[in-house]
Amino acid sequence: TPLTIAIDGPSGSGKSSVSRQVAHRLGLAYLDTGAMYRAATWWCVRQGVDLADSGGVAALVAAMPLEMGLDPLDPTVHVDGTDIAEAIRDSAISTAVSAVATNLAVRAELQARQRAAIEAERTGGFSGGAGVVAEGRDITTVVAPDGDARILLTASEEARLARRARDVHGADDAAAVEATRDQVLRRDRDDSTVSQFQVAADGVVTVDSSDLDFEETIAAVLHVVAT
Ligand code: CDP
Repeated sequence: TPLTIAIDGPSGSGKSSVSRQVAHRLGLAYLDTGAMYRAATWWCVRQGVDLADSGGVAALVAAMPLEMGLDPLDPTVHVDGTDIAEAIRDSAISTAVSAVATNLAVRAELQARQRAAIEAERTGGFSGGAGVVAEGRDITTVVAPDGDARILLTASEEARLARRARDVHGADDAAAVEATRDQVLRRDRDDSTVSQFQVAADGVVTVDSSDLDFEETIAAVLHVVAT
């Protein structure tokens, strides 16, 4: 029977790299829903719409020609044929993404596409019907509330800022941590207004990775999946 594993959590919790590795080890597809909100932001900026124009943004995203590749070893993102996997990690996109992700019409549109992608993996798709690890802020609560395993991956603020600093600046010294602090904390605060990912919802298992290394975190997640 196909598996749907839902993982959410705040910035820097390690949810992307952990979700990818779990998907790979279980032979499942990997759906990065954050990449979809980033792609929508890239597309709106590219089309020149004012991000505060909620109707204009919603209309653009409704017609966005987005193609997500669900291979956990090579998760691709294309819009209108352009490979934007790297462009969507730009700091300008990270800064702007919450403005698009808090647009409720955008959320409804992307959530519908996410449910369709998850459903497709239960019968075929990249995984051939094995299933999917879907990752992102509202996955355990809104998109896949009936997932077979639902996990909130958390970590202390200190651990999350250090991880994000290493990802973005290649270092976790005081200056690098300070440089990421405002962006990470502001984004979590803005995102909290539309999705609940700071505390586990009913039936969602918390995995705190503050004191776990990568392998230990994978093991903890696999343990939840197996129980
Ligand atoms: O960089 P980080 O891992 O924190 O975030 P991400 O997974 O790349 O998601 C980028 C942004 O997309 C988040 O800050 C949210 O604004 C939005 N997002 C969302 O609203 N709902 C999701 N399911 C996933 C992401």
